[in-house]
Amino acid sequence: MNAYHQLLAATVDYLHQQKARGQRHVVVDPAKLAALTQPEVSKRRPQNPSQTNPSKAASQPAPAPSNVGARADSFEALREMVLACTQCPNLVSSRKNVVFGVGNASADLMFVGEAPGADEDNAGEPFVGKAGQLLTKIIETMGLARDQVYIANILKCRPDTPGKRFGNRPPTSEEMATCSPWLHRQIEFIQPKIIVALGKTAVEGLLEQQVAITRFRGSWQTYRGIPLMPTFHPAYLLRNQALTEKRKIWEDMLAVMDKLALPVSEKQRGFFLPR
Ligand code: URA
Repeated sequence: MNAYHQLLAATVDYLHQQKARGQRHVVVDPAKLAALTQPEVSKRRPQNPSQTNPSKAASQPAPAPSNVGARADSFEALREMVLACTQCPNLVSSRKNVVFGVGNASADLMFVGEAPGADEDNAGEPFVGKAGQLLTKIIETMGLARDQVYIANILKCRPDTPGKRFGNRPPTSEEMATCSPWLHRQIEFIQPKIIVALGKTAVEGLLEQQVAITRFRGSWQTYRGIPLMPTFHPAYLLRNQALTEKRKIWEDMLAVMDKLALPVSEKQRGFFLPR
């Protein structure tokens, strides 16, 4: 970690301590906050006009440096940089934890979801809430354990919901563009053989194109040379428990298992078929 990131990590730690003591606000010069979000990029390219407008800079993510993370020369260094990230001031002030990712960092199979929810923000781990429990069940039904695969999200921070006491919101396209370079770098380190993109946001974030998930799911795509299977988000199955919908996700997982040359029993092939 370089001196900048050490300072940043110390500042984030200090702010977490103040938050734990009940402090809810800190007074920061908006221009300094904006400068902090762009420590090195600003040296390389002209300042974005939004950075000269303090009110905008404080509420919007900094423009995405597409090479963010390129400086991380190990997975651990990347994790430290991500945990200290302050690119989206609104998410920095609302988050409890940065949710980096979990699992086997040399996994053949990687799952990518949308963004942490409240449970994940509390735990600092992706997919631990109800949708996460269902994802774990899907992984286990494939004959794998959760710690054999890698699980991450397009966004590393929970999207804030100002003024609301519960509920989630999808990430904005600016947040996705700002945060996804971390994920790209993470995938470069993991080098999975297959990526499963869970839901529309994950597919759009990885492929950088708009998709209709109902039409797209089940058809192999390619992400930077890696086969990518788009499928429904497990939260969709929580809302729609029809056997036909369960079977669709399961067929996508059977295709993944076949491509990874994992053993598939007759029983597994027949799951969720009408009797
Ligand atoms: N939904 C997601 O997309 N990711 C999580 O980590 C949890 C719920």
